[in-house]
Amino acid sequence: MAKDQAPVIRLEDYRPPAWLVDTVEMDVRLDPARTEILTRLAIRPNPAGGGGPLRLDGEDLELVWLKLDGRRLAAGDYRLDESGLSIASMPDTAAVLEIATAVDPSANTRLMGLYRSNGIYCTQCEAEGFRRITFYPDRPDVLAVFTVRLEADKVAAPVLLANGNPVESGDIAGTGRHYAVWHDPHPKPCYLFAMVAGDLGRVGDTFVTASGRTVDLGIYVERGKEDRCGYAMDALKRSMRWDETAFGREYDLDVFNIVAVSDFNMGAMENKGLNIFNDKYVLASPETATDADYANIEAIIAHEYFHNWTGNRITCRDWFQLCLKEGLTVFRDQEFSADMRSRPVERIADVRTLKAHQFVEDAGPLAHPVRPESYREINNFYTATVYEKGAEVIRMLKVLIGDAAFRAGMDLYFARHDGEAATIEDFLACFAETSGRDLTQFKLWYSQSGTPEVTATGRWDASTSSYELTLEQSCPPTPGQPVKQPMVIPIRFGLIGSGGDMQPAVVEGDGVTGDLIELRAARQRIVFRGLAERPVPSLLRGFSAPVKLTTNLDDDDLLFAAARDSDPFNRWQALQSVATRLLTDAQAAIRAGGAPAADARFLASLRRTAESADLDPAFRAQALHLPTQADIARDIGREVDPAAIHAAEDWLRGLIGASLADTLRALYGGLALNAPYTPDAAAAGRRALRNAALSLLSATGDAADIEMAERHFRNADNMTDRLAGLQILVRAGAEAAEAALAAFHDRYRDDPLVLDKWFTIQATAPGEATLGRVIELMRHPAFALSNPNRVRALIGAFASGNPAQFNRPDGAGYRLLGEVATQIDRSNPQLAARLLSAFRSWRVLEPVRRAAARAELERIASLDGLSRDTSDIVRRSLE
Ligand code: PHE
Ligand code: ZN
Repeated sequence: MAKDQAPVIRLEDYRPPAWLVDTVEMDVRLDPARTEILTRLAIRPNPAGGGGPLRLDGEDLELVWLKLDGRRLAAGDYRLDESGLSIASMPDTAAVLEIATAVDPSANTRLMGLYRSNGIYCTQCEAEGFRRITFYPDRPDVLAVFTVRLEADKVAAPVLLANGNPVESGDIAGTGRHYAVWHDPHPKPCYLFAMVAGDLGRVGDTFVTASGRTVDLGIYVERGKEDRCGYAMDALKRSMRWDETAFGREYDLDVFNIVAVSDFNMGAMENKGLNIFNDKYVLASPETATDADYANIEAIIAHEYFHNWTGNRITCRDWFQLCLKEGLTVFRDQEFSADMRSRPVERIADVRTLKAHQFVEDAGPLAHPVRPESYREINNFYTATVYEKGAEVIRMLKVLIGDAAFRAGMDLYFARHDGEAATIEDFLACFAETSGRDLTQFKLWYSQSGTPEVTATGRWDASTSSYELTLEQSCPPTPGQPVKQPMVIPIRFGLIGSGGDMQPAVVEGDGVTGDLIELRAARQRIVFRGLAERPVPSLLRGFSAPVKLTTNLDDDDLLFAAARDSDPFNRWQALQSVATRLLTDAQAAIRAGGAPAADARFLASLRRTAESADLDPAFRAQALHLPTQADIARDIGREVDPAAIHAAEDWLRGLIGASLADTLRALYGGLALNAPYTPDAAAAGRRALRNAALSLLSATGDAADIEMAERHFRNADNMTDRLAGLQILVRAGAEAAEAALAAFHDRYRDDPLVLDKWFTIQATAPGEATLGRVIELMRHPAFALSNPNRVRALIGAFASGNPAQFNRPDGAGYRLLGEVATQIDRSNPQLAARLLSAFRSWRVLEPVRRAAARAELERIASLDGLSRDTSDIVRRSLE
């Protein structure tokens, strides 16, 4: 089985480039089957000891010719291999290299490099796609000024776009073709290169920057979809303003364009001045998009825009530094969303995502540090750890050094490294300087993988009126890291008394300043003296560190906190912690053949929260959302039986639906909005609470409630409610579900993005019939293995969103995923590898499922001709 593997690339092996590129001039003659690309590179030896042989990356390219300083090179002057081209004898001065390559955009199914999506030419170059367009030193620390001339058939591609500012355009007489020239004055790495050509509709607007420059904004979409761009444009303008006020960052070109394409491997891409988006994150109308879609669009538009400074103006030295741009930019988009919406609700949603994806990743065979130290395939490191945990690390930094030093550090970073390719060390040095603090221990967050576990043990001593808190930290072993060092863990805290937060007279012990404990040692003891009564500690407020916290608080304490904590996040967390215990106990009881036990105090507390009119409806909706099955699986941690967890969830939902029926009905009735749909946070929050109430009500299977859900579906005037109704009917296995699915299908048969929701609802339906249904849906005319959104909506949703059915004990779910992914691997390896990451928790399963999952992974690993992406994921999963 030991087949050749791709070589390991290591951070410690980093060497500066031998040659630098000052300018790139490209002339691209677009043609569906054979596009020719003439590239002229002005290169020079790197003054920092470079020069010598020239190595250029290149992949799947036809080399037409090559010229060095005007002289055509003969076959013997260079060497071509499958990963690039070398020229052994180079001048020792600056030189001009001209390269003619040809590619077939229509045959490019990997969606990396130049490809066509629904007839539109587009490019994707991060991380290593530019080498599929021309030969080039395809690494982020080579920064050049690009000028691009594109030409194409005028009818097929009336729109011609590239990075930077438009310079000129015109017709090419007598050919039916036209051209456009774009110039980007900002030096950039080639992964930020982009061009687009096609017959696209445009929605335009303008933005006046803080210093008074007018920027032309354009969103380009498939014709006929222009009326779905309004929200994205609005989000873009708000993002541009926010970056000016929150970070002092102004936009730096005359135009900013966004293009939406329907075939895209990821969410979106921050190419300089020309962001390219998965159309799912641009197009929205009340009829087709849910509140969640609107929130995602807002966040992703912001994320890509914010990359203009964190990623583009300052880029990464190498791909190990990916979190330098991604973690930081996720942090920035989370802050933006918090400012646009409700801060506590945004935080709850972000932490939910973190736990559902990053904590799970960190607990399995694919765990890696926020800054990995080695990789075989960089595409497999666009992960929840690099993105979401990377954002948490920035958030902790801000908590530790304070708002002022954080902002000053950001300013210093922008001032010092603008126009450069930087490292995590460069970044941290700025904050060490502005805060005067030693960040050596903090830096472990970048190098140690795994989720740290913090145990907090409190003891009240009435005789001395003091509360002693012992904090301990440890971090479980992860691949390649058997032993860890203690980290700096910022723990925001409060002591809740019957009258609110209490102030101790004296604090004894290290690391406490105000409401912050800095846990630095493996064990730290703190004593709070002079307290009037026994407090309930509220720890890790706002989820101030991405750790797993265990306390010795009992359910009474937690439910007290759920009602009284002044930190809304911890109010939510307290209820979730009790629900987690209930669900964990329930699944154990179910597995043992017994019956789960109800908990009246939990139900009463949930009722009180749901009824608290002074709480934001969006917050109350979050409180009514139980921990996910993945949360429970993670909490159990070993010998997991997903079917039992699913049964426990059904039980608790049914119990809540029955016990809180009057409250839930009152919420449902009282929260109806008698106004046309608007996507703002307040209206979305009401819908979220109303739909959560309806969902719990119908979990009892009560006929009247199911009927109410059916009416909800039928009478909905927006996608959020319509989809919620449909989901409830399908989940309840209601008789009306089939008719509702058919009606939904008829209504949206020509709308791929909405049909994706229809696929997902069926793929995540409970019950053994789902697997067969998924297989049947793969034959649906709207389904296509070539379209990543379709594949993720059906296969991805089944594998990641339906734990009980994907993890069938007979292994059929695993085999389906394995078969589909290996088939896709031949055309789109990146997509295949991502799908297969659904196996990442296989080791914690009970023995029968574990054996079945292992068998499928081993079967895949033994196949010939696997891509580097897939073989890397499968091998690491098995290690
Ligand atoms: N850099 C993109 C982002 O904003 C993600 C991406 C990575 C897109 C690789 C395409 C390819 O997060
Ligand atoms: Zn990003």
